[in-house]
Amino acid sequence: MNISLSERAANMPPFHVMEVLERAQELEREGRNIIHLEIGEPDFPTAPHVCEAAAAAMCSGNTKYTHSLGIQELREAIVEDYMHKYGVVISPEQVIITSGTSPAMLLLFIALINPGDEVIMSNPHYACYPNFVRAVSGVPDFIYTDSKSVFILQPEQVAARINKKTKAILINSPSNPTGHVMPQGTLRGMADVAGDVPIISDEIYQGLVYDGEDHTILEFTDNAFVLNGFSKLYAMTGWRLGYLIAPKAYVRTLQKVQQNLFISTNAFVQYAGIAALRGPQDMIKEMISTYDERRRYMLKRLRGMGFEVEGEPGGAYYILADARRFSEDSLELSRRILEDTGVAVTPGIDFGNGAEGHLRFSYANSREKIEEGMDRLQTYLAIKTGTFI
Ligand SMILES: Cc1ncc(COP(=O)(O)O)c(C=O)c1O
Repeated sequence: MNISLSERAANMPPFHVMEVLERAQELEREGRNIIHLEIGEPDFPTAPHVCEAAAAAMCSGNTKYTHSLGIQELREAIVEDYMHKYGVVISPEQVIITSGTSPAMLLLFIALINPGDEVIMSNPHYACYPNFVRAVSGVPDFIYTDSKSVFILQPEQVAARINKKTKAILINSPSNPTGHVMPQGTLRGMADVAGDVPIISDEIYQGLVYDGEDHTILEFTDNAFVLNGFSKLYAMTGWRLGYLIAPKAYVRTLQKVQQNLFISTNAFVQYAGIAALRGPQDMIKEMISTYDERRRYMLKRLRGMGFEVEGEPGGAYYILADARRFSEDSLELSRRILEDTGVAVTPGIDFGNGAEGHLRFSYANSREKIEEGMDRLQTYLAIKTGTFI
């Protein structure tokens, strides 16, 4: 075979965290004991009542295509959830159910972006954002954020950047990779400066907030598209269930894209989503307090080893730590740490060159594993820096 692949695909960088995970799994197959602090995946199981709802739906015949926008009851449950948590009024007609937040993002960008259109985003950013934008021939327009503002995109920066080509402003709070949460005033400021430019708000880590309050962009503007899903808060990464909330005027176009590209989302998984939203929430409360306890522990240990972390990352389950004391090259540093100590961490470069020299640590792992990981890392870095006694 001698055909060239599309430049779009050939030029797409790897998702480094997946590469680290895959190498870590290879080492595990060789018998190595690996501590996973790389992957952004809850270590908790999905709640039993959610699994039961899916099984019941499957066994009672919910195994066909559904309405392309999703089943009505789930769309209503999402509306209730936003009303209950944030006091915002949206209608079920604005909600499109997708097979995860990632397909929701693709759907939205396909519907929104013409070639050359720009999407403002912070750098660092969630690794995949620029690749989604480029996949539809759009242009990611990076604004570098720094550790002084805990990497949070500021409304003044956005105001100064908006131009004729700007098609959307992409924000993400709580943030991957930083774990920081956008204050209410920043969200409001963002809505003010955006004017007619829509804000795309990735709210997938909503609910995972340990310090301060949780907000949605919909509290501050209607000119917004919200991306959300069940992967993180409900520990449902493998179920592939997400959604998009869009202004009504755009839904018909989004629906046509959904019908053509995805048809509909898995039927019985949608019933699991209803159970997650409307069922008991005590497991979620427990998860949140466990994450918080791990967060405090990990932060203390990382700082104790000489990593610098500005502020208090109060959300999601990540800490983006400045590792330049040890190396400027995050890819090489994470590779060495994995090979030499069996601790898997994500190189900052995965999240844009604004996070080079940093490592992202995930505390979505048990306290014992985190302790073991921190111990191994401490010993390794002490030897590396010659401070080992
Ligand atoms: C910021 C952010 N958005 C979206 C996703 C994708 O989530 P999903 O599993 O719903 O596709 C992730 C996954 O890590 C993420 O961190």
